[in-house]
Amino acid sequence: MNNWRVAGKQRLLLVVALGLLTISVLFFLPVSNLSSVSNQEQQQKELDVTSAPEQEQQKTSTIEPIEAPLASFEPDDPVRACFVILVRNRELDGIASTIRQIEERFNKKYQYPYIFLNDDDFTQEFKDTTSLLTTADTRYGKLDNQMWGYPSFINQTLAADNRAEMAKSGVPYAESESYRHMCRFQSGFFFRHPLLDEFDYYWRLEPDVDYHCDLSYDVFKFMRNNGKKYGFNIAFREFGATVPSLWQTVMDFERDRPEVVKHWPVREDSLWRFVTDDNGESYNLCHFWTNFEIASLDLWRSNDYLKFFNYLDQTGGFFYERWGDAPVHSIAASMMLRKEEFHFFNDIGYRHTAYTHCPVEPEFRSKCSCNPDDNFDYNPGLSCYSVFKKALEES
Ligand SMILES: *[C@@H]1O[C@H](CO)[C@@H](O)[C@H](O)[C@H]1NC(C)=O
Repeated sequence: MNNWRVAGKQRLLLVVALGLLTISVLFFLPVSNLSSVSNQEQQQKELDVTSAPEQEQQKTSTIEPIEAPLASFEPDDPVRACFVILVRNRELDGIASTIRQIEERFNKKYQYPYIFLNDDDFTQEFKDTTSLLTTADTRYGKLDNQMWGYPSFINQTLAADNRAEMAKSGVPYAESESYRHMCRFQSGFFFRHPLLDEFDYYWRLEPDVDYHCDLSYDVFKFMRNNGKKYGFNIAFREFGATVPSLWQTVMDFERDRPEVVKHWPVREDSLWRFVTDDNGESYNLCHFWTNFEIASLDLWRSNDYLKFFNYLDQTGGFFYERWGDAPVHSIAASMMLRKEEFHFFNDIGYRHTAYTHCPVEPEFRSKCSCNPDDNFDYNPGLSCYSVFKKALEES
């Protein structure tokens, strides 16, 4: 819990960002801003004590600076975080129910803003109702055609043929176009929506779910202070028919883009074994259920992930098959992050459809309203929680 030391990568980003800031200050404000220059130098000096070797710094300085999170922080410094909710007007009751629980269990103390996104305009009723559920900020955005629509390279006839074919085998949402747009949006675009620009972490919420437990600490500070990038509470096994060529496409990416893959941790340090049981021969269909996610936005905004997403997207698999954002996020995170950057939110009791994560330890009985007998973690065949635990432990 007290391990809030700044991760090396964040430190580097700050050094780069500070360097650029100093340069721009010197360039644009040669006289008037001397005090802030010396301020920068002071901070630079403090940083130098802990900064990485020179060689490393040079390597990163060629990377375009992204909006880096506050790299030097005290544990209590505020976190730039929000709830992000993709929702339709007709799901108002369902999302109101979710927000009431989130407010009661967590956010009345912390006041994190809510970002609502929709492929349509939100109605006034939707905005009025949802904004009255919280004293925190609420903001509403619409998705454009790039984020929610067919890219030009998709053959829509082929996509329709494949949907009809998939429906015959009884796959959930086999025929749905909007479900596919949703999965593609959640895989490659939500973190690039302008309403999320000012944030570093998000918590994804959905309509008609239950949050069962009181939380008495700031989960976003927990994420930042402990160097966590990806948090989940249910690990599930995917329907194989939705992702027949996904794994091969990931393997092709690794073969074709070694300059990206070389930034990734070695297999032993990553969570690689969460997604493959046979050392990469095949995908074991394990994924984190993304309808709940507390994660770093920088993970998805990274050049590495964007290249990965674009590569997948170009194959058309989101439309010709039915690739979910859950397997896409999970495979990417399992390859790009180090094991210790994942966090299992055991204390966030949660129900989505028929599946519940309910913490079973006795200390949660006074905080949670769920029944531990409903806990999904060890569901044989469907849950991948044991695979996660094993992947964490193995090296
Ligand atoms: C699109 O897919 C259909 C169905 O497979 C095929 O007949 C057609 O030739 C394709 N069109 C293009 C432009 O590739």
